[in-house]
Amino acid sequence: MQAALWRRYGPPESLTLGEAPMPTPGPGEIRIRVHASTVTSGDARLRGCRGAGIFWLPLRLIYGLTRPRHPIPGMEFAGVVEALGPGVTGFAIGDRAFGLAPRGAHAEYLTMPETGCVARQPAGLSHAEAAALPFGALTALVFLRDVAEARSGERVLVHGAGGAVGVYLVQLARHFGLAVTAVASARHATRLRDLGAQQVLDRETGDFTTQGARYDIVLDTVGGTSLRAVRRILTPQGRHVFVNFATRELGAMLATRLRPGPRVLCGYAPGRQADLLTIRDLAAQGALRPVIGHRMPLAEITAAHALVDSGRKQGALVLDVIPAECQRPA
Ligand SMILES: NC(=O)c1ccc[n+]([C@@H]2O[C@H](COP(=O)([O-])OP(=O)(O)OC[C@H]3O[C@@H](n4cnc5c(N)ncnc54)[C@H](OP(=O)(O)O)[C@@H]3O)[C@@H](O)[C@H]2O)c1
Repeated sequence: MQAALWRRYGPPESLTLGEAPMPTPGPGEIRIRVHASTVTSGDARLRGCRGAGIFWLPLRLIYGLTRPRHPIPGMEFAGVVEALGPGVTGFAIGDRAFGLAPRGAHAEYLTMPETGCVARQPAGLSHAEAAALPFGALTALVFLRDVAEARSGERVLVHGAGGAVGVYLVQLARHFGLAVTAVASARHATRLRDLGAQQVLDRETGDFTTQGARYDIVLDTVGGTSLRAVRRILTPQGRHVFVNFATRELGAMLATRLRPGPRVLCGYAPGRQADLLTIRDLAAQGALRPVIGHRMPLAEITAAHALVDSGRKQGALVLDVIPAECQRPA
């Protein structure tokens, strides 16, 4: 089968297109013909093994000390189940599935345990739309619900709202009944209002920490927002939440746990099947809309990674593994 190949850590050019053996589903596993995948900020980080601060070390221990242990990158996928391993009961051949694999999604086929982060696609979505959901929407769900413990009626500011995580934070926060302010460059403004942000602040012409408004939650998807400046605009029970963090933020999380007042929080979105089912239901109800900012064929894997590295991505970058016009419609 055709796949992107990842033989060494490095720049986008360290990825090539080549042939890989067809994976065989083991007991409890399904094989999916991948129609669409994405290149996420997580894929780009793994490609170069770029962990903030000391986090490169656990990344290397998990993914390979000197070079990637598994040769095929890619996490998000949408496609059709086309083979079942022994004992599979939850899926049937022909099911449209989507999910988040630990690796291997930038290929024509991948295998997943049926109990992994995989589910039937929401009705009515194309493969590209389904592939654009899991990474950003699962992260947004876990950070709003479990890390920030957001409650209806609270005011939330989302910094980096135009990216893959930000566009779902805005939608989910609105769905959970929060008042949403989005901070992003002006090119995202119309879309973010359409997704539910009551206010959109242009990050290039203003500083959200000096505008006089107070928030219960400031969610930073980019990293690096000033701990002191954000503390001043938080309510006494406020939470300054970092989706992207390093040792400075972890230190602040420990320090603010020991004193009264606003807290700094960091977290990790693990990719659970139960959460994917929640995302699927919200998408099926129309409460969550996939946001695709870019679309490229698998053959352009290097250019796709370079675009993600630029930091200027909007929503998800979909990688068409099967040409868009040949993907089986919903
Ligand atoms: N902890 C976890 O479990 C977890 C899970 C998923 C992702 N993450 C991390 O979360 C981060 C965001 O992920 P993502 O997928 O949303 O990234 P993304 O899709 O690449 O989007 C990044 C967004 O950030 C904005 N941006 C770039 N530089 C900026 C700056 N200096 N100031 C303000 N905004 C800036 C860009 O919008 P503009 O047009 O406004 O520049 C872009 O839309 C990544 O670092 C990722 O590794 C963590």
